[in-house]
Amino acid sequence: MAREWDAVAYEGLSSPQTRWGAEFLGRLELAGDEDAIDAGCGTGKVTGLLLERLPRGTVLAVDGSRAMVEAAAERFAGETRVRVEHQDLVELEVEEPVDLVFSTATFHWIGDHQRLFDRLALVLKPGGRLAAQCGGEGNISRATRATREVMGRERFRSFFVGWDDDKNYAGAGETKARLEAAGFGGVEAWLHEELTGFGSAGELAGFLEIVVLGGHMQRLPEGERGPFAGAVAAEIVAAAGEPLLDYVRLNMTATRSEDA
Ligand SMILES: C[S@@+](CC[C@H](N)C(=O)[O-])C[C@H]1O[C@@H](n2cnc3c(N)ncnc32)[C@H](O)[C@@H]1O
Repeated sequence: MAREWDAVAYEGLSSPQTRWGAEFLGRLELAGDEDAIDAGCGTGKVTGLLLERLPRGTVLAVDGSRAMVEAAAERFAGETRVRVEHQDLVELEVEEPVDLVFSTATFHWIGDHQRLFDRLALVLKPGGRLAAQCGGEGNISRATRATREVMGRERFRSFFVGWDDDKNYAGAGETKARLEAAGFGGVEAWLHEELTGFGSAGELAGFLEIVVLGGHMQRLPEGERGPFAGAVAAEIVAAAGEPLLDYVRLNMTATRSEDA
């Protein structure tokens, strides 16, 4: 199951993810009556935008973090077209297959993409579509380098023994092959860059602590979390000359084959 998230902090800090989600959604052609799943809905900000695009449709919002599910359930309380469920996407189960699986900023948290895509094919109607964006090959490489350097420092080293970062930044070619193996046709997969600047090293450190380094934070005692995120932010600024994250997004669209 996915790790827990600080939903309140993510709600306040996730404007880059919301912006990318809105842009990705804006490029999708939708009839407006689809039954959809938002796979990894978080607190539901992008789910709400998806719902606006589906005036005659429904959304099943799924997330593996209980805190995220609670926040999304609160956001959509009284909205009969949205159901929020706590589920692991690699074991996703639905009562009825849907027309669309939509997902943003989530799949790179899942180690086994083949298992994920096999599962998503099962919850789609034949002819149903998958449209997803997540971190892709080369994503935040400066931050990854900086994080490894700080993890190796005397002060922090003992907290990470036997543990490695858990992100899965896949490439476009391997993603296309995995989707086809899962029974998807008409597959398109591509990468694009989203260089994202922050107002200060402190702002970057706050964002790293909640969004990028959440897994690392769970290894650290509370008193070491801020210093660790601060050290990674300082390292990024030293290397790049400014507080930024070199995001790379992996986009994918595909249709479940009729005979999958
Ligand atoms: C960065 S948030 C993205 C939330 C939202 N889609 C957005 O764009 O703001 C990633 C979300 O994926 C969820 N997640 C990660 N792995 C998951 C899994 N295996 N099953 C279900 N949810 C998962 C996390 O709990 C988290 O809420």
